[in-house]
Amino acid sequence: MSTESVAVEDLTLEDAAAELERLAKEIARNDALYHGKDQPEISDADYDALKRRNDAIEARFPELIREDSPSRRVGAQPSNTFAPVVHSRPMLSLDNTFSQEDVRDFVASVYRFLGRLPDNSIAFTAEPKIDGLSMSIRYENGKLVTGATRGDGTTGENVTANIRTINEIPNELPRGVPSVVEVRGEVYMAKSDFMALNAQMEAEGKQTYVNPRNTAAGSLRQLDAKVTASRKLRFFAYAWGEMSEMPADTQMGMVETFKSWGFPVNPLMKRLSSVDDILAHYAEIGLERPDLDYDIDGVVYKVDSLELQQRLGFRSRSPRWATAHKFPAEQAFTIVENIDIQVGRTGALTPVARLTPITVGGVVVTNATLHNEDYIRGIGNSGERIREEEHDIRIGDTVIVQRAGDVIPQVLDVVMEKRPAEAEPYQFPKVCPVCGSHAVRERHEKTGKLDSVTRCTGGFICRAQATEELKHFVSRNAFDIEGLGSKQIDFFFENEDPALQIRTAPDIFTLEKRQASSLTKLENIDGFGKVSVGKLYAAINDRRSIALHRFIYALGIRHVGETTAKLLARSYGTYEAFAAAMKEAATLSGDAWNDLNAIEGIGEVVARAIVEFYKEPRNIEVIGRLLDEVRPQEAEQPVTAGSPVAGKTVVFTGSLEKFTREEAKARAESLGAKVAGSVSKKTDIVVAGPGAGSKLDKARELGVQTMDEDEWLALIGG
Ligand code: IVH
Repeated sequence: MSTESVAVEDLTLEDAAAELERLAKEIARNDALYHGKDQPEISDADYDALKRRNDAIEARFPELIREDSPSRRVGAQPSNTFAPVVHSRPMLSLDNTFSQEDVRDFVASVYRFLGRLPDNSIAFTAEPKIDGLSMSIRYENGKLVTGATRGDGTTGENVTANIRTINEIPNELPRGVPSVVEVRGEVYMAKSDFMALNAQMEAEGKQTYVNPRNTAAGSLRQLDAKVTASRKLRFFAYAWGEMSEMPADTQMGMVETFKSWGFPVNPLMKRLSSVDDILAHYAEIGLERPDLDYDIDGVVYKVDSLELQQRLGFRSRSPRWATAHKFPAEQAFTIVENIDIQVGRTGALTPVARLTPITVGGVVVTNATLHNEDYIRGIGNSGERIREEEHDIRIGDTVIVQRAGDVIPQVLDVVMEKRPAEAEPYQFPKVCPVCGSHAVRERHEKTGKLDSVTRCTGGFICRAQATEELKHFVSRNAFDIEGLGSKQIDFFFENEDPALQIRTAPDIFTLEKRQASSLTKLENIDGFGKVSVGKLYAAINDRRSIALHRFIYALGIRHVGETTAKLLARSYGTYEAFAAAMKEAATLSGDAWNDLNAIEGIGEVVARAIVEFYKEPRNIEVIGRLLDEVRPQEAEQPVTAGSPVAGKTVVFTGSLEKFTREEAKARAESLGAKVAGSVSKKTDIVVAGPGAGSKLDKARELGVQTMDEDEWLALIGG
């Protein structure tokens, strides 16, 4: 019997592999017939059935997903950076309204602007505001040519390869559509897909994602479109950019057109005329919100008539004809059952309220961060009161918790009438609950202000700091070691057997060797097994060569996040150059120190933190052992073949006339130049506009090449 007719559940591994191969070929052949020659051989339904079967087999045997799998649907090779895309029409944002009063004002202002009496004669559309990422997708002659993020509204990022992997977005439009079509809308991840992804992450011992929106954003901004393809992203069309012809003259008509072209549109969109009806629809969407499979954070109202939209026009960044009516942050009452202290990687003691579980906006909340000692007492970060004096948070208190969009649940206030008589003010610990070292609040060197964070002084002897450091090291944006999650790290850290112990990062890479000569085998330990141990070693060995920015980020230097790590990698090129420069910068003066501070995006606090890190002998020792095992790669330079300024350090000073400072910087960087904030011996070019002062003087003094804006433009080719 051929595998073609075997139900997916009944396929053996071998059959499944053969079947995936057949489907890949068959689908590719039909794609070519459909797209290339406009001569499909099978019906759309049959084609969909092929794809569904492919998806079902891949879901059952993810290890068999082929390089050329139709589910990946990627044409282009991964690029190095996202090229900028200037939007043909700016992508605007929306004004927010928060109350019924605001909505009445909005509607009244529309009538007033148009010089009409408020007689309910103007229709509005009302639809959910999707909590995702806005995207502009351009089609020329019916073919998808560009997908771009919103960016700053004027210039976005070219994510075409990634957009093509989203099944809900057609790669091709039906015949007869206008020659230029730009469909805009929201890319998002369904809540159910998000939960499934997290369940999978957890099962693989990987770090879970925070929320669907960030996951969608992260998935979309992958340089490797295959990663995007492996995530299920979805789309709702609700707006447009350039259109060579308008297929409708109302908002509703446009959205219906998009639907007929194959785009998903939101089913809760309605056309309404009176404010009361609009508000009733808002309330209805609010009621449905917990049951929707996607996050929404409000309802968007738009004037339906495109002619009226045009007359109403725009304020600086938002249209006069639309507004977003936001949902209030959700609140609920619950009880603080306990206050725990968590010790983080940098030793910060963070109090966490353990709450009687309560549902807030469809999500069960059991914990809320209390930030720090001051927050518990009702004092904010700048020393201001955030709650009334006696409203300090105590164990046993009934509190109001709030959850808004992305943010971690907050304890807003205490219900004083419900405070138990025996409730005592919370005593913030004076010692680290994990290692017993003193916990202190540092004083700011310059301002003398007491830091709001209490820190454990135990450093490396503190088990919490050490394990958190390891967890950071293996985390997704650092070494990303599959199979080494939080649970596994705790296991290896606590283990007393030298052949099974991981106390510092280099130990991860010596584990396999130590195991080879040991009698206690990892594979015999509960929760591991032969296959997973093999996979773990493979995952570890896979990281013996690693991107420089990941390596730097993984070191866990205070204030050095991913972005800073990338800046450092790009500026220094190799780990050796970076480490040597940091050692040299130890005196907080001299060229190495100045160069570090001259990196645009690196301020003094960060610079100091890095230098301090390299002064600590223990760090040097651990990194030394790590470098015996791992080789950081040379930083990749952006693709800038033929760029006259690649690798050059450029400083812009004075006022620029042809472009903003940001544009100039982005342009230079896209051509492979490094843009610095101050002039040093390492500067190659200073571009000086009118009013340039000390930087230009310094450049001349140092003999650095200087030029004006036009000369710069001529150099980079306009
Ligand atoms: S209309 C000119 N409709 O909200 C108006 N935006 O705060 C263009 N958004 O950047 C936007 N759902 O990312 C519109 N149904 C919806 C929306 C929506 C979500 C986002 C969009 C926009 C942001 C503005």
